[in-house]
Amino acid sequence: MITPQTIEQIKNRIDIIDVIGEYVKLKKRGSNYLGLCPFHNEKTPSFTVSPAKELYKCFGCGKSGNTITFLMEHDKMSYVEALKFLANRYNIEIEETESTPEQKIVQQAADSLYIINNFATKIFDEKLFDSEEGQSIALSYLKERGFREEVIKKFQIGYNPNQKNELANALIQHQFNKDFLLKSGLVALRNENELVDNYRGRIIFPIHNNSGKIIGFGARIIGKNDKAPKYINTPENEIYIKSKVLYGSYFARLAIDKADECLLVEGYTDVVSLHQAGIENVVASGGTSLTIDQLRLIKKYSNNLTIIYDGDAAGVKAALRGLDMALEESLNVKLVLIPDKEDPDSYVNKVGATAFKEFIAVNKKDFIIFQLEVMLKEAGNDVTSKSNVVNQIAETLSKINKAEDFTKQQDYIKQCSVLLKIDETGLTNLVNKYKRDKIVKDEKKLPFEEADYFHQQSKQPEDVLDENVFLLNQDEAHERNVMRVLLENGLKNWDDQKTMAQYIFEELEAFHFENTQLENLYNTYRKQYEQGLQPDAKSFLYNDDENIRSLVVSITMFPHELSLKWDEVLEGMHITNRDTSQQDVLMSVNYFKLKKIKKMFEENQRDMEHADFDEQMRLIEIHKNLKEIEKEITRQLGTVIMK
Ligand code: GTP
Ligand code: MN
Repeated sequence: MITPQTIEQIKNRIDIIDVIGEYVKLKKRGSNYLGLCPFHNEKTPSFTVSPAKELYKCFGCGKSGNTITFLMEHDKMSYVEALKFLANRYNIEIEETESTPEQKIVQQAADSLYIINNFATKIFDEKLFDSEEGQSIALSYLKERGFREEVIKKFQIGYNPNQKNELANALIQHQFNKDFLLKSGLVALRNENELVDNYRGRIIFPIHNNSGKIIGFGARIIGKNDKAPKYINTPENEIYIKSKVLYGSYFARLAIDKADECLLVEGYTDVVSLHQAGIENVVASGGTSLTIDQLRLIKKYSNNLTIIYDGDAAGVKAALRGLDMALEESLNVKLVLIPDKEDPDSYVNKVGATAFKEFIAVNKKDFIIFQLEVMLKEAGNDVTSKSNVVNQIAETLSKINKAEDFTKQQDYIKQCSVLLKIDETGLTNLVNKYKRDKIVKDEKKLPFEEADYFHQQSKQPEDVLDENVFLLNQDEAHERNVMRVLLENGLKNWDDQKTMAQYIFEELEAFHFENTQLENLYNTYRKQYEQGLQPDAKSFLYNDDENIRSLVVSITMFPHELSLKWDEVLEGMHITNRDTSQQDVLMSVNYFKLKKIKKMFEENQRDMEHADFDEQMRLIEIHKNLKEIEKEITRQLGTVIMK
C-alpha cells in the first residue's frame, strides 16, 4: 500500500489543469476552465474543470471526478497506477506502508510468482524462436495455423521443450524458492524432491493481468492427442485467480473502450487470431460460464457484450448460464454463433477480417430473444412446456431491475409477448410478480433503504420512469446532508471548545445511518478525525475505496436540494456575507434527528397495535419522551430561522 504521506504529497502537487490540459484544450472562463468533453462527442464545450475544487464535470454527459478518476476513466488506469503515474510526473518518491505479517507473506508470494513467470516467459520465448526443437516443432505449427511473428511476439507466446526438466533446471539454477516454483505450476514434484517440467512439449500462452503482468499460463499440446488434455492451466495461486481473469483483457482494454463493445470468445487462439485480423476488442473466457467478477471487468470498459461462440450446444449452454448475472449488471448482451463447426479463429482465417466483421454485425442476436427462440423450439406445441417458457422468460426479464433499464425492460416485454403470442399486460404482470417475489426474499437481507427503493419500484412501474423516486429519496437526503456538512465544515470551529465535527459526533451519538454506504463513510471520517488526520472532501477523493470516492463526489458535486433551501432561508435573513456554516450544521443535524425521531414514532405506533396493556403503558411513555425531544428540536430549528 502506498503510504498516506506519499498520497498527501501527490495530492499537494497535483495541478488538475495541468494534467487534464494534456488531454483537453482548456480555456479559462471565470474561475473555471472549459473544453470539449473527452468522454463524449460534442461541438460546443461543456466540460468544466474547477481548479479550486479540484474537480471536473461535463454538463453534457454528466461525467465527473478529480484528477485521479480522470486518469482512471480516460486512460483506464487502476487507482494505484494513477497515483504512480502522478508521482512519477512530479518526481515524488513512492513510499509503501509496512504491511501486516500476513499481508507480507501474500505480497512476497505474489512478487516471487511474478518474477518466476517473467523469467519463464523469457525462456519460453527463446526456446520458440531460437532453439532447433522450438523452430521445427512449435514455430512451424503456429505458422502453419496462420499466426504471424508480430502477433506471436505481442502475446509473448512461447514453447516449453519436450524435455524432462530443462525449464526446471534453469529455474533451480536461478535459485528460485521451491515452494513458489511449485505454486507457479510451471514445474511438478517427482520422487519426493525432484522438480520436472509441467508443460513439456507445449505451446505456451502467457496470461496477463490488466496492467500487463504475467499471472499464469495456458499450455497447449501440439497437434492432437486423445490421451493428454489439450490445455493445462496454471493452478490457482496468489496471483492467478481464474474467476477474475479474461484472457486478452490487457491487450483489448483500450479497443473495447473505443469500440464501446467487448467481444467474448472461448479460446486463446480465437483472441490471437482476431487480433491479428485487426479486431482487438476481444477477450476469452476459456469456455466456462462467466463469473460476476469477469462481467464487472468487462463493464469497466463497456456496457455492450457480444458473445461469439461456435454453434455447438455445449458452448452455447455454458454461455447462457452467465446471462442472468449480466442482466443484473445491466450489460447489453448479444450473441453470434459461428456456423459449420468453425470457431472464431478458423472462421476469420477462412473468410478474412472484413467478412468476419460483417458476419458479426449481421448475425448479432439479442441474448434474451435468442434464449426465447431456443426454448420455444424445444417446447414445440406442448402446452405445459410453453407455459414453462413463459415463466422462465418472465423471471429472466425481472432481473433487469436498474432504474435506467426500465425502457429496455418494456421493450423486451413487448418483443417477447409477440414471440410468445401472449398478451403484453399479462407478461408485464408476471414479470412484476417475479420482481415482488425477489423483493420479499431479499428484504430480509437488505438494509432498510434498499428495500424501500425496491418497494417503490415494484408498486408501479410508471413511477420508475420518474427520476425523482431515485434522486429525492427523502430518507436518504437527511443522511447525505449531514455527511455533506461534515465534509464541508467538520474542521471548522463550532465554539472555543470544539470543532463542528466534534459537535456532530456528540449530537448524533445515539443515532445511526440507515444507508450502509453513508454509515461507512461517516465512520471512516470519524476514525480518521480521531486519529488526528484532517479529513475533508478533498482528502476522501484519494481514498482507496472506489465506493467512498464516488459517494464523496456525488455528495459534494450535487449537494442535495435541502441545502439549497437552507441557503435561501439564510439569504432571506440577510446574513449571506457571514459564514453560515454553523447554521448549516445546526439545521442539518437537527433535521437528521427530526427524521429519525419521526421514524421512531412510526415504529412505536406499530408496536402499539400488538402490545398488551403494560407494554402499551411503556410505549406511551416513550411516545411522550419522543414528543419532548421533537419539540426541542423544532424549537432550535425555529430559533435559527427566526433569529
Ligand atoms: P485450438 O483448438 O488450438 O484453436 O484452441 P482453442 O483455444 O480454440 O481451444 P478450444 O476451442 O478447444 O477450447 C476453448 C478454450 O477452452 C481454450 O482456449 C481453453 O481455455 C479451454 N480448454 C480447452 N480444452 C481444455 C483442456 O483440456 N483443459 C483446460 N483446462 N482448458 C481447456
Ligand atoms: Mn480453436
